[in-house]
Amino acid sequence: MDKVNFYTNRINTEDGIIDLQVAENMCNTFLYPEFLLSNYSKISDIIDDEIENVLDVGCGAGPFGVFFARRGKKVVAIDINPIAIECCKENVKRYELQNFMEVKRAGIEEYECKKRFDMIVCNPPYGDNSYMRKELSKDIKNILQKISNDIFDAEVEDYLTNCWKDSLGRDMMDYIFARAKELLDSNGKILVVCGNDFIDSKQYMINKADKFDCISLIYHDSVKKDVCIKDGNMIYRGKKIFNILVFKYIGF
Ligand SMILES: C[S@@+](CC[C@H](N)C(=O)[O-])C[C@H]1O[C@@H](n2cnc3c(N)ncnc32)[C@H](O)[C@@H]1O
Repeated sequence: MDKVNFYTNRINTEDGIIDLQVAENMCNTFLYPEFLLSNYSKISDIIDDEIENVLDVGCGAGPFGVFFARRGKKVVAIDINPIAIECCKENVKRYELQNFMEVKRAGIEEYECKKRFDMIVCNPPYGDNSYMRKELSKDIKNILQKISNDIFDAEVEDYLTNCWKDSLGRDMMDYIFARAKELLDSNGKILVVCGNDFIDSKQYMINKADKFDCISLIYHDSVKKDVCIKDGNMIYRGKKIFNILVFKYIGF
């Protein structure tokens, strides 16, 4: 199996810099994790002292998992995308977090849960994916074929759909909410960072989460722009609104 080509993406957090290894030509997310991890003290009084076990759903290259594992939390990081898993494993190695962080390729819908978590953290897939799908599909297909010879076109299409289609962002949250009783312990919380491109995400989640108290909401109108990488170049898209939401499960 050929290796994925990595480059470094720097994320500023309240615990200092995390230099993440991410895959070339892959659309990676930086601003959302950075927004959450550089504002973490605003919500940590609600969650931090109590948590030991964290499930990072849709971990990507692992910004959240690495952050929490470096704080000594036990993290399980899952993603359906094999490139994301390669990146995340690389970051676990790089930060020597093998004793704190387990990385598995799995979708949240099928993830076989062997223990309960104090917290689920996620940055669900985004909305408007048409541009990314069109522009990146060839690159992603090439990368996927590099890391595995057994990948078929249909699967490549599935990865693209699952990573970037707006409804899947909602599906991911639906699965998390639906499986909360099985995944979370009795004080369990769900920490979500999302933007305005996950259409009506905030209201959608609040409506869906009828067995949850939404205990914290931070909104931030940002003049920063979303970034993705193509052929090593930054591509900027529109203005963003960041949302951080914390849900506490009350359905036990
Ligand atoms: C917006 S990215 C966030 C990545 C990373 N957590 C970050 O913040 O940089 C969403 C991630 O969810 C993953 N994903 C999409 N559907 C999923 C599912 N059903 N189960 C697990 N992961 C999924 C995608 O592959 C992608 O890596």
